[in-house]
Amino acid sequence: MIELRHAADPAARKLRTQVGIVGAGPAGLILSVLLHLEGVDSVIVEAQTRKHAEERVRAGVLEQGTVDLLTQAGVGERLRREGLVHHGIELRFARRGHRIDMHALTGRAITVYAQHEVAKDLIAARLQAGGQILFEAGQVKIHDFEGELPRITFQHAGENYELACDFIGGCDGFHGICRPSIPAGALRFYEKAYPFGWLGILAAAAPANRELIYANHERGFALVSMRTPLITRAYLQCLPDEDLAGWPDERIWEEFDRRLETIEGFRLNRGPILQKGVTAMRSFVTEPMQFGRLFLAGDAAHIVPPTGAKGLNLAAADVYILSRAIAAWYRSGATELLERYTEICLRRVWRAQHFSGWMTSMLHRFEGDDGFDYRRQLAELDQVTTSRAAATTLAENYTGLPFDLPGERL
Ligand code: FAD
Ligand code: PHB
Repeated sequence: MIELRHAADPAARKLRTQVGIVGAGPAGLILSVLLHLEGVDSVIVEAQTRKHAEERVRAGVLEQGTVDLLTQAGVGERLRREGLVHHGIELRFARRGHRIDMHALTGRAITVYAQHEVAKDLIAARLQAGGQILFEAGQVKIHDFEGELPRITFQHAGENYELACDFIGGCDGFHGICRPSIPAGALRFYEKAYPFGWLGILAAAAPANRELIYANHERGFALVSMRTPLITRAYLQCLPDEDLAGWPDERIWEEFDRRLETIEGFRLNRGPILQKGVTAMRSFVTEPMQFGRLFLAGDAAHIVPPTGAKGLNLAAADVYILSRAIAAWYRSGATELLERYTEICLRRVWRAQHFSGWMTSMLHRFEGDDGFDYRRQLAELDQVTTSRAAATTLAENYTGLPFDLPGERL
């Protein structure tokens, strides 16, 4: 980042970089790391504290392509050491577990490694390489991105700043300011809200199973995941606005035991609950994902229900494409990839919407569902766990589609 000496507006400190990035979530951080490897300078402006970015409990499942991307970007060392490689998942229904051997079906695996650990690794890598991440920025606004000299204005440490750049990466998540800054009428939104959410817990208890368990139960969906060999992460289907006050720890554990019951008498290992939260579920897509020199990436552009574990992985795929497109522009002035950014990303996004929607519908109780709907779900689960073709479809999507770029494959 260069500090300009001639400030036209003496009230604001003027900064200049090549790519101004709003948001230090996975999308913004991975974009900044990838651009650095391409020799492109960037500055990240983030509303929250560094502690928040490094501690917020969210995703846990990384597709093989995401792991490969992070490794190639030089931030895969701790992930390789501490990440838990899973070759399969369990689908549990009618009190029995059925393993999908994803590795046998596709030759690919997933890695369980917490999103906030990915964030820690990326932040450390950026700062070590001299990168700028301005945490705790206030009043963040973007300007002039329909022209050739976009700007980001914000307050930081009591001063007003104006960051001029060639491109803006809108990586500020679903509730950010980038998408709403695009003129009304330029975007179309496609959205589906689900009549339920997930109540998630993090507990100091050894995971009860070596692999993730996705359970369909008449009382509602349950998912058992993990963060480390000593920490369980687990979710229960609940109301979208479920009041946590009604869920003392004992009730949570009992509900897990009911929804995860097996004929062998399965029980989750219990331990102190370290964190609880409710997440509403939605599917959402913005078309196009770009406007002038502003490029939306990750949750700023699209949301998937978490049942397919795709959100973070889609964010990584978006910024992989974006970094290549921006690097090509700096190298040769080529605009083809920049122009095709939306088209390339949306193909993967809609595939993920389809997969996540399918997993959600197969595993959750919907309002008004009756015995007929439940039996239809059981028939679908029966097919997925007994037909090699159906299981392969699930495994291919779950472990992730290749990170495609015209002429290149990661
Ligand atoms: P975010 O992570 O939302 O980051 C956006 C950043 O922008 C934040 O740091 C925010 O503070 C900042 N910001 C917002 N507004 C401003 C502003 N005005 N100015 C400056 N900065 C701003 N995905 C998976 O792939 N696998 C999973 O297993 C998985 N599980 C999930 C489980 C749950 C319960 C949830 C809620 C999500 C899960 N996801 C999963 C989804 C995944 O967490 C998200 O898709 C991912 O965080 C998207 O990254 P992002 O960088 O696009 O957005
Ligand atoms: C998680 O570990 O947080 C997790 C795992 C699988 C999902 C969603 C979340 O589908």
